[in-house]
Amino acid sequence: MSEIRDETTVVFALPRRADLDALRTMLGAEVKVLGEATSFREATALITRHRPEVALVSSQLPDGDVSSWLEQDSPLGQTKLIVLATDPQPEDYRTAMRIGALDLLPMPLNPGSILESLRRVAKGPGERQGKIVTVFATKGGVGKTTIAANVAAELAGRRQRVCVVDLDLEFGSLSAFFGAVPEQTMADLVRRRGAFSLPLIQEMMVTDPILGVPILASPLTPDLAPTVDGEGKKEVGRNYVAEILRMLCLGYDTVVVDTASRFSEATVSALEMASTVLLVTAPDVPALQSTAKGLTVLVDKLGFQPDRLKLVLNRANAAIGLTAEDISRFLAYPISYRLPSDGDAAVRACNTGVPIVRRRRSGPLARALAALAQDVAGPPQRLTPRRSVLRPLGVRR
Ligand SMILES: Nc1ncnc2c1ncn2[C@@H]1O[C@H](COP(=O)(O)OP(=O)(O)O)[C@@H](O)[C@H]1O
Ligand SMILES: [Mg+2]
Repeated sequence: MSEIRDETTVVFALPRRADLDALRTMLGAEVKVLGEATSFREATALITRHRPEVALVSSQLPDGDVSSWLEQDSPLGQTKLIVLATDPQPEDYRTAMRIGALDLLPMPLNPGSILESLRRVAKGPGERQGKIVTVFATKGGVGKTTIAANVAAELAGRRQRVCVVDLDLEFGSLSAFFGAVPEQTMADLVRRRGAFSLPLIQEMMVTDPILGVPILASPLTPDLAPTVDGEGKKEVGRNYVAEILRMLCLGYDTVVVDTASRFSEATVSALEMASTVLLVTAPDVPALQSTAKGLTVLVDKLGFQPDRLKLVLNRANAAIGLTAEDISRFLAYPISYRLPSDGDAAVRACNTGVPIVRRRRSGPLARALAALAQDVAGPPQRLTPRRSVLRPLGVRR
């Protein structure tokens, strides 16, 4: 979608066709309208498909209200939200803040205030808009946590503001890969009432002792996992993981998410919100068979394509009679990254809590991980609206 990056891309969702027409007339020349919806269901489909910079969404649509929509669907990812409400009351402003909307505008529509809001929101005043990199696999033991820890360690070494989140909620060990011992975890976070602010989340993070990467650890015991994602949630309707990730994007350039090998609500949120998903596989038949099944879901059901879903072949040089080409053909999917097998470096790194990219920078595995990290993170995102957004109606920067 590179052809539309130079202008602010927007999706509208309003209950009445007439309002959509009015909005398009007001803004159509100034922003790139990627789609219009009259229900939350349609809005989810459009946002997931087009990944606009901004979604302008009515607080009420025939199929529900905006906060229950985000609790159930959370399609926003990097898309910024502006809510439109008829005669907004103080509680509407509180709701808008809680769900992560960057503005709440009164209806009926006022072109000046909408353009002004779009300008501020698309620019993100003094605010980071980090990207999420989610590391996933359909099978345990293929190297997800190794890759998540090393991508983050490499980026931290390059002075990026990076944090990591361990969504292997039952048996996560991400903090051990950094030699950190968490005292508080996301299980303590979800016990708190109300919205999660960035400082509150940061309070629950443990810091990597070498380069200071903040780590949001998974619960200390498996029985607490359902309090974050599942039956044990204190507020059943909330998607805690989506809320946490959305907030962390405001504080960090890159949020690296490690996962467990199942399509839980937490994992699916982390997948849908990611700018890049690293799908890790290994050159053995069970791993490849399960990866093939996973790709069916990721590509056919969740709509991922190779620009956002990158296949990582770990232990690529393990001699098992299958070449990378055979594997790519078997999976009918391109391999974006190959990481060499180096049991000595990999196991020593997780046993000592010093990531591979810090311990042996010159080794082939460290170099491949560093290159992957750099490629995935790229330069920090900068969302700049076209100047012409400001021109009509005398709105000035
Ligand atoms: N490229 C590699 N070469 C050799 N061993 C590896 C490699 N990547 C990971 N490992 C080892 O494989 C084991 C499982 O890795 P891990 O990252 O914990 O997998 P997952 O998170 O997918 O369960 C660890 O002992 C790790 O050190
Ligand atoms: Mg793991």
